[in-house]
Amino acid sequence: MGVCPAVSMFFRKCKYMILLLLSVSILAWYATFSGETVKAIQGTLLPVQTLADNTEVLSGGEGNSWRSVTQVFSNPLPDTSPPKQSCPEKSPLLQGALNLTFEDSLTLKEVESENSGVAEGQYQPPDCLAQQSVAILIPHRNREKHLLYLLHHLHPFLQRQQLHYSIYVIHQAGEVTFNRAKLLNVGYLEALKDYDWDCFIFHDVDLVPENDYNLYKCDQQPKHLVVGRNATGYKLRYKGYFGGVTAMTKDQFHKVNGFSNTYWGWGGEDDDLRIRVELQKMEIIRPPPLIARYTMVFHKRDSGNEINKDRMRLLARTPKVWRKDGLNTCSYSTLSVERPPLYINVTVDIGEPMH
Ligand code: BGC
Repeated sequence: MGVCPAVSMFFRKCKYMILLLLSVSILAWYATFSGETVKAIQGTLLPVQTLADNTEVLSGGEGNSWRSVTQVFSNPLPDTSPPKQSCPEKSPLLQGALNLTFEDSLTLKEVESENSGVAEGQYQPPDCLAQQSVAILIPHRNREKHLLYLLHHLHPFLQRQQLHYSIYVIHQAGEVTFNRAKLLNVGYLEALKDYDWDCFIFHDVDLVPENDYNLYKCDQQPKHLVVGRNATGYKLRYKGYFGGVTAMTKDQFHKVNGFSNTYWGWGGEDDDLRIRVELQKMEIIRPPPLIARYTMVFHKRDSGNEINKDRMRLLARTPKVWRKDGLNTCSYSTLSVERPPLYINVTVDIGEPMH
């Protein structure tokens, strides 16, 4: 008789508390069986069952091992394919001398659809681990058609070489005199923000390689890839020529403090880089002349890239100033970095010549 009133008093007083507890239990029960919980409880331990094909599933049955849920869900279907082998020293995809075409009607859309394996300017060989990761740097202004032809030929060329690569186009904003060398310094510095590239290829926009045995890889020594071009009878222009397309490792380029920033207009900056390389007791190497051949896409001299008449004076002072003029003094402001399918477009303000 005395118990019943006490119990009913308890229920009356605590009814809200009991209601709350009931709701929480219902919610907890619901959550346990909904997929969302799994994400919410990542990091706790759940039972895992290994199936015959080695895939793992969450399970409540007996004989399961226990794994961290984070581990299970960050890799829901473990990759059962064998680990990738290194790509061979010589790619089986190479074709040698190529038949280059320069169709007036070519469009960027066509080049994009021919290169569906490239995303945001970057490519990895699908079946093997590339021997080198290579950033291709192309200084650019007002040469859209040349850029299109180059992208058209270079993407398949680099894919046949089984390289991990990205193409960076470094676009000089404004109308101030062009400065190829400074743009290449910018390209090097910007590309290293994306990835720790092994090798850099400094590439003119109007030169298209004619033979895919001309490997866009770096060597023990800085490499000059343009021995000859159609416009000059495929002859090396002069003994110390180091222009057009060159390949240097990250360390080789860093060691010479990159290019000089002071060559505005056409000429001299490549000779300056050669002097820097020689000062470091490095030796320029070249592939055989029959392989290191390029087609130069015809163009008139650009306005805003007049011959630099000061270049001989600048070259004479290189041995004295190279430590204070280069990567370590390359000031610029990045206006934009865009990533359309086939290249990374870095637009920069590199300032103007000091008079
Ligand atoms: C210039 C170089 C140029 C070379 C070949 C030299 O006089 O200084 O910059 O690459 O000629 O045209």
